[in-house]
Amino acid sequence: MIYELSNPLTKTLITHLRDAKSDAVRFRHTITELTKQLTYEALKNFSLIQKSVNTWNGEAKLDTLDEASIMVVTVLRAGMPMLDSVMQTLPGASAGFLAMKRNETTHESKLYYDRLPSCKGKTILLVDPMVATGGSLCDAIELIKKREPLQIVTLNIIGSPEGLERVNAAYPEVDIYIAQIDKGLNADKYIIPGLGDAGDRSYNTVE
Ligand code: PRP
Ligand code: URA
Repeated sequence: MIYELSNPLTKTLITHLRDAKSDAVRFRHTITELTKQLTYEALKNFSLIQKSVNTWNGEAKLDTLDEASIMVVTVLRAGMPMLDSVMQTLPGASAGFLAMKRNETTHESKLYYDRLPSCKGKTILLVDPMVATGGSLCDAIELIKKREPLQIVTLNIIGSPEGLERVNAAYPEVDIYIAQIDKGLNADKYIIPGLGDAGDRSYNTVE
C-alpha cells in the first residue's frame, strides 16, 4: 500500500524543501522533521512488548516498541538525514547502509557499497527521500529481501506516481509511506515539481 501524508504541516515543510533559498542546513533539518512525521505514521500499527522499568513508584511492566527488532536502512547519500532522524526517535534500532548512485544518462541505479547487518526476522525501515523512476528503491528492496527480513516498510519524502506504482506493483507486500506524491517526471527523469537533486541540496554539491 502507498500511504501519503496529508497534514498541513507536511505541506508547509515540503514548501520549505522546494524553496531554492533553503540552504543545506535548513534542507537537511526539514528532511529530518518530515521523517519524524513519516516514522510516526509508519509505526501506528506496530505491536508493543512489555519491559520492566524502575519507576519513581517501584518496578513496573510498561509498553514499548521492540526497538531491537527494527533496522533502519538508508540509501546514501540523500538518505543520511533520514537515518539520523529515525535513529533519534528509535535509539535502540540498528542501522544498515547501501550506497547507490543513479546514472543520469541511463537512469539505472548502481550499487557501490553494501553494509547491511543480518536482516533475518527484522522489520526494515528503508529510507530514501526521492522515488523518481523507482529503480533505486526497487533495487534496495530486492537486495534486502534476499536477507530474509520479517517485513520492509519504506519512508520517502517525494515520489512520482509512476515510480511509486512501479515499486508497489513489484513489491505489493511493502508498505510505502510518502510525504508528497508529485505530478510526474521530466525527460531527465527528475520529479516535477520536485526539489531538484536531494543529495546536492543536502550537501552543497552540483553535479
Ligand atoms: C537519488 C535519490 C534516490 C534516487 C531516486 O539518489 O536519493 O536514491 O536518486 O531516483 P530513481 O527513483 O530514479 O532511482 P542519487 O542517485 O541522485 O544519489 P545521491 O543521493 O548521492 O545524490
Ligand atoms: N533524484 C533526486 O534527488 N531528485 C529527483 O528528482 C530525481 C532523482
